[in-house]
Amino acid sequence: MDRIRINGGRQLKGEIRISGAKNAALPLMVAAMLSDKPLVLKNVPRLADISTMIQLLQQHGVEVSAAPGENGHSRGTTLTLKTAKITSTTAPYDIVRKMRASVLVLGPLLAREGRAKVSLPGGCAIGARPVDLHIAGLKAMGAEIDIDGGYMEARAPKGLKGARFTFPKVSVGATENLMMAASLAKGTTVLDNAAREPEITDLAECLMAMGVPISGVGTETLTIEGVESFREATHSVVPDRIEAGTYAMAVAMMAGDVELLGGRLELIESVAGVLRSAGVTFEPTERGFRVHRTNGALHGVDVMTEPYPGFPTDLQAQMMALMTRAEGASMITETIFESRFMHVPELARMGANVTIHHESALVRGVPKLRGAEVMATDLRASVSLAIAGLAAEGQTTLHRVYHLDRGFERLEEKLAACGADIERLKG
Ligand code: EPZ
Repeated sequence: MDRIRINGGRQLKGEIRISGAKNAALPLMVAAMLSDKPLVLKNVPRLADISTMIQLLQQHGVEVSAAPGENGHSRGTTLTLKTAKITSTTAPYDIVRKMRASVLVLGPLLAREGRAKVSLPGGCAIGARPVDLHIAGLKAMGAEIDIDGGYMEARAPKGLKGARFTFPKVSVGATENLMMAASLAKGTTVLDNAAREPEITDLAECLMAMGVPISGVGTETLTIEGVESFREATHSVVPDRIEAGTYAMAVAMMAGDVELLGGRLELIESVAGVLRSAGVTFEPTERGFRVHRTNGALHGVDVMTEPYPGFPTDLQAQMMALMTRAEGASMITETIFESRFMHVPELARMGANVTIHHESALVRGVPKLRGAEVMATDLRASVSLAIAGLAAEGQTTLHRVYHLDRGFERLEEKLAACGADIERLKG
């Protein structure tokens, strides 16, 4: 298994190109199942999760072809997806267990074929992550869903009908599933308390390009008019706000100065606000935005994760790594997932001072971190350890890099190009 070795202490200077967002690309790819017309997706990142999604879609009958982006692979991949016919309505356990986003095929399969059998994803390292909201929403649209043998068995013999559904809790995945199902349902669907993440807006824009009338995009109430057929469409995946926020924190860690090409500052306003209070500067540029921290100390700031436009849970671990070196204390509260502090014991092995009390972690800044052998149990936790490694004295070896490869494209190349002493050790 690959490892990543980092020798800490280098400042980051230069530029980093931000890739397309994994969490936008995955539902966009699934949207191709709704239509028998081609969907062309540009700026798709090259990541393990994208390969897993291709595998899942192919076994449902989607034809997928990939080509380098307009300026070669540094600008992502262009995927062309076409679903002339659904050849299987079953999403098997073997794929769903690898990637929870597989559950997004439930709505489109049900809407197009009137039936679907999708494995329950089960819990994962960051929490229980139930799918009850996906099920409740589809039932409101007329589906019958039973759980049997670890699978959701869904039927809509008369097709799905537009409905009004209020999410009792904000869910990104359930909002996406229902938006796709509603696109092919009879009549109008209104989703209240819908997620407002930029990835939702990206999906809405793609569905609109495919011919689905949607209003309320970017608000908590989405109104979707079901259609009977779709148009051929081309859509470019939104730049990854989580990757941009992660690199902003990596730059801040060692008082560096980097331009994030293609990064969209307006998508990480809550993050930039917190980082500005900590002593980091952001400036929009023609090509993206610049992040730097040239003078003064990093200050401890408090953070609470919330649905968008609040501070994203997918940047909580990275923020904690940054705060381990701040002056003073920082209270980091995780409200989205119940066990998303798996990085804490690993950061502690590098000398961090963190105390967990229920959903909050009190981080007391330390003057230095020390390199160590570390491993993480999920994607964002892994990258937080890499950020800590950039500041640590001596060598850090990050194990289980496959977590990182699920969501960060060429991390070591991007950081090394800005002066970090980082390399991948194969095998
Ligand atoms: C998406 O997961 C992202 N994944 C996650 O990113 C991200 O952390 C999360 O949204 C929150 O922003 C993808 O987009 C592929 P949710 P999702 O449904 O859709 C509870 C990463 O590292 N809930 O918004 O699964 C749930 O348990 C990943 O890239 C229910 O109770 O998240 C959680 O507490 C990790 N019932 C909360 O809602 C449901 O039916 C929010 O989850 C669904 C969710």
